[in-house]
Amino acid sequence: PKLVIDASSGRLIPDTFFGAFFEEINHAGAGGLWAELVNNRGFEAEASINGTSNIYPWTIIGENQSSIIISTESSSCFERNKIALRMDVLCHKKSCPHGGVGISNPGFWGMNIEAGKKYKVVFYIRSLGPINLRVSFVGSDNGIKLASTKIRSSGVSVTKWSKMETILKAKITNHNSNLQITTTKTGVLWLDQISAMPLDTYKGHGFRNDLFQMVADLKPKTFRFPGGCYVEGNYLKNAFRWKDTVGPWEERPGHYNDMWKYWTDDGFGYFEGLQLSEDLGAYPIWVFNNGISHHDQINTSAISPFVQEALDGIEFAIGSPESKWGSLRASMGHPKPFDLRYVGVGNEDCGKYNYQGNYLEFYKAIKHTYPDIQIISNCDGSQYPLNHPADLYDFHIYTNSKDMFSKYTKFDKAPRSGPKAYVSEYAVWSQDAGNGSLYAAVAEAAFLIGLEKNSDVVSMVAYAPLFVNTNDKYWIPDAIVFNSYQNYGTPSYWLQQFFIDSNGATFLNSTLHNSSSSIVASAIQYTNFQDGKNYLKVKIVNFGNSTENLEILINNLKSNVQQLGSSKVILTSSNKMDENSFFEPTKIVPKRTALENASNDMNVELAPYSVTSFDLLI
Ligand code: AHR
Repeated sequence: PKLVIDASSGRLIPDTFFGAFFEEINHAGAGGLWAELVNNRGFEAEASINGTSNIYPWTIIGENQSSIIISTESSSCFERNKIALRMDVLCHKKSCPHGGVGISNPGFWGMNIEAGKKYKVVFYIRSLGPINLRVSFVGSDNGIKLASTKIRSSGVSVTKWSKMETILKAKITNHNSNLQITTTKTGVLWLDQISAMPLDTYKGHGFRNDLFQMVADLKPKTFRFPGGCYVEGNYLKNAFRWKDTVGPWEERPGHYNDMWKYWTDDGFGYFEGLQLSEDLGAYPIWVFNNGISHHDQINTSAISPFVQEALDGIEFAIGSPESKWGSLRASMGHPKPFDLRYVGVGNEDCGKYNYQGNYLEFYKAIKHTYPDIQIISNCDGSQYPLNHPADLYDFHIYTNSKDMFSKYTKFDKAPRSGPKAYVSEYAVWSQDAGNGSLYAAVAEAAFLIGLEKNSDVVSMVAYAPLFVNTNDKYWIPDAIVFNSYQNYGTPSYWLQQFFIDSNGATFLNSTLHNSSSSIVASAIQYTNFQDGKNYLKVKIVNFGNSTENLEILINNLKSNVQQLGSSKVILTSSNKMDENSFFEPTKIVPKRTALENASNDMNVELAPYSVTSFDLLI
């Protein structure tokens, strides 16, 4: 078998080709990338679900009804999140249980508190009398105090809310901690909007550093957010609506993510999605609700408020700081417009009754006001041209490994004119994938090579979902697995690193001769962003269970392949169903070695179930 590469001519791959997709699923944002430690910081969690409030996951410290009474009241100073916590302290000094009475928040399956690091705790309070509180981080498993401070004041009013702010520096590390606010002073006080944030987040923007870095390492050129089905909601009343997620964090109402079944305080909102895109060096792709959820829809005749909401959202992102919504963005610390160029009208809604009608209303209004914004339709244009105007069409695929491998040719026959594809969600899932198997990644590699080959009609691609908190595996597999303090990439994550150099590279024609049907290959020419040198990268997938030998012949190369500086990278394992884990986080990661026989005509060996990249210095 032989792979013949013609280096004389090629086609540019769009520099937006390879990107990332973030959805608030599996606690990806709340309890994940968004570094807020407190869960349900405004005591609103249940209120939007069934009208009554529940302080969960806060718990009471002390004997309920005997030393302390905890209740909720609709008396907050924040208009959009009225519920506050009322604490009646019945005990006094020595009559209180040791350590006092109060409330405790476990965060999202334990807060990660690290020795030497600083945490900002903010809360709002009013009180019948002077306050004498202790704010502490405490190990959930052993009760050991990790950081603690006293807050005393006689100036707190009962009618007006006061904001309290303190910095705690941890002396001890515990990855499973909770935040406690306690007192031994009889009285009545009200608390609301209690936040605890590590001071050390990416650029101070609130993103957990390690998780940010995992995404940044993929060098995504586009960043789609905030969903997914999360944008639609099971019901419209629970859909993500951007205006509820911007402005000061204390004023955000939060909402129930009824798709993925958890409350989010919306600390990671629309602004944060735009900011994160900018921090990643990626173009944001904002997906908004088009008046359609999984179970209810707005008729096209009544869609104009949603259209206006989308227009306002675009103004928020790119309007001048003097514009109505641009000024809100500016007040949040970003006077400069974000580089929003793409919007998605809904998610997976094409077949729904009102989609096409609603879509056209959004399309007309957006193109009228923002002619340069690229609009992404939910309808699949990979087989037939779309029957409505669009700049791109969204394409999602979740399937088994064999089928994903065979989808290598999926876009070979896609219409060559008209809107291009945005493959915004792809993944092998179900049995073949487990929690993220090598088998899945190898199949995905073939699919991605097929997209690269068809990048004249496939503009952009992203894996889905990006994140999973290991305590909420609602949807598996995912690219990045994390808990309160650790993370690792699944093979599907590491596989993506083979495509980082594809953005803006030149795709070269290549042909496989006499090869087995389990081999798929591509060749690109690119300039390495780190050393500035030119390389030819040959990626080869072996989806079979035996080792394959292959001759790689490069014709019409102006210079010779250089031995020194050429290397090969391989992603494989001894068993196709192998996975990474917290115990073996790097069991399956790309391994780079020097290439001893690098030349314009070389023989290579391909391991069973493997992805190999030959990075040839030219
Ligand atoms: O990625 C998980 C879900 O899969 C997304 O929310 C949805 O768009 C798709 O069905």
